[in-house]
Amino acid sequence: MRKVLVIGSGGRCDAICQKLKESDKVDMLFAAPGNPGMSRYGVSIPIKVDEIEKLVNFAKKEEIDLTIVGPEASLALGIVDAFKKEGLRIFGPTKAATMIESSKSFAKDLMKKYHIPTANYETFSDYSKALEYVKNGSFPVVLKYDGLAAGKGVVVCKDLLEADETLKDMLIDDHFGHGKVVIEEYLEGPEFSYMCFVNNDKVYPMLPAQDHKRAFDNDEGLNTGGMGAYTGLSFLTKEDEEYAYNEIMVKTAKAMVNEGVPFVGVLYGGLMKTKNGIKVIEFNARFGDPETEVVLPCLISDIYDVFCAIIDGKAPELLWDRRPTLGVVLASKGYPGDYEKGYPIFIPTFDDGYVFHMGTAIKNDTLVTAGGRVLMVVSKGYTLEEAYDNAYNMVKEIKCDNLFYRHDIGAKSLKG
Ligand code: AMP
Ligand code: GLY
Repeated sequence: MRKVLVIGSGGRCDAICQKLKESDKVDMLFAAPGNPGMSRYGVSIPIKVDEIEKLVNFAKKEEIDLTIVGPEASLALGIVDAFKKEGLRIFGPTKAATMIESSKSFAKDLMKKYHIPTANYETFSDYSKALEYVKNGSFPVVLKYDGLAAGKGVVVCKDLLEADETLKDMLIDDHFGHGKVVIEEYLEGPEFSYMCFVNNDKVYPMLPAQDHKRAFDNDEGLNTGGMGAYTGLSFLTKEDEEYAYNEIMVKTAKAMVNEGVPFVGVLYGGLMKTKNGIKVIEFNARFGDPETEVVLPCLISDIYDVFCAIIDGKAPELLWDRRPTLGVVLASKGYPGDYEKGYPIFIPTFDDGYVFHMGTAIKNDTLVTAGGRVLMVVSKGYTLEEAYDNAYNMVKEIKCDNLFYRHDIGAKSLKG
């Protein structure tokens, strides 16, 4: 009896569970804390992602064969180190290697040292010195709080006034906690997410995907956790992909080995295709959300075998269905600001495609909204246009009084 535990509760974990359930090597699937979507494939365990000791104890008691970590919060708390200490098999980077995501200055210094292309930058902990630097530079300028800030620690400032306010916020008021600020050159171009399975210096790429961070159509509104994603990026050439693989992902994996913080897990490159070539915007130490919900449905190979191969330092078999896959996030009205919860949701049975749960709950036997991002509807097509039509046709069939979504997922790669 082979048991697998997935840590997390969002759409990313639902997608990982869905893929694991396709494997005939997985007999029992647990998710902690899980969500109603995952209950289609396994059992939700009421342990939170930051309760590391409880998770270790659960894995020991249930004799879990393999644990997969979704969120950065668990990784940054050292869940992988804690599991390994007990001899438990777990997929993800150590606390030290997670620094590639949790510390912007670590990531930037690594890139500088190993000539990995990224925006020019300086790091400051002193407000006056930071302000002086900004005054002598050009606008817009990008200010990044040096620590995990759930995507909210990055501010693109259009002028000195805004930059000054942001620096005060980050360095004097310690809005995000006490720390440093990375001040970065502003880059322009389409962004894409390039996730790779990594074991030390061995790097195995997944399909590139594009996220949609702003709340509304035409990239308007506030930054969110991601309002949709797709594979089949028309602006990315084979050469671009090779460059990103060799010059960014492989170089970074090797650099981490060299620095004594070898990486095992999913290394996520948040990359931008600028007019001066592809550059790194950020690294994450885990599967991206919502990219995972469109990338994993393209994986033909057995994902359980892939995880085991990576942990064991062997080359995994990675076969991909290259049909474009597109996913639309349905979010609670008001998100990413305040929103209400508890609205009933009706999801019909679809012959094709996927509906991943991001923020749902069961109340009095009814599925209800329970988060900012609620569902992600994913479909494939032989063209991106077809994937778009299929996904949006499904979206129209889902009934709920308090959801909104973007209508232009995939726009940067769609014709016309
Ligand atoms: P990050 O958390 O570092 O990925 O930043 C969040 C978002 O801010 C990115 O997805 C970009 O859209 C934007 N951003 C970050 N750094 C830069 C930069 N140097 N130039 C332009 N936009 C940036
Ligand atoms: N989609 C961006 C992230 O996972 O951080």
